Amino acid sequence: MKVSITRKAHFTSGHRLYNPDFSDEENRRIFGPCSNPNGHGHNYVLEVTVTGELDPATGMIMNLKELKNIINEHIISRCDHKNFSVDVDFTRDIIPTAENLAKRIFEVLDSKLPDGTLQRIKLFETENNIAIAERGDG
Ligand code: NI
Repeated sequence: MKVSITRKAHFTSGHRLYNPDFSDEENRRIFGPCSNPNGHGHNYVLEVTVTGELDPATGMIMNLKELKNIINEHIISRCDHKNFSVDVDFTRDIIPTAENLAKRIFEVLDSKLPDGTLQRIKLFETENNIAIAERGDG
């Protein structure tokens, strides 16, 4: 059996989905309103799931407060009220789709958490649009 814990966090960030290799019309067709020239924001919800040995002395896999602090320091403080394409060093070079953001957020958190403990991150761009990055091949 595997037991995991999940910590949820919220942040509000700006983005524009735009590929300079495409024409403006293609950008509009592919990315829809997320391609509007002046950008816009989303209220993102992030779920971070960690697994590991369940310590019998504490009944914990990891202290949730410690997990919260890592998420705040390395993701929220760097992304909240920022523009992904301008202000955030680890997303500046990507098209900031939910998928790309999920991938980069996973990589950042994976490098800060104990080896192999990060299982999955879920990024809700809206209530209905969700990207998942999880440990596995590729
Ligand atoms: Ni958008």
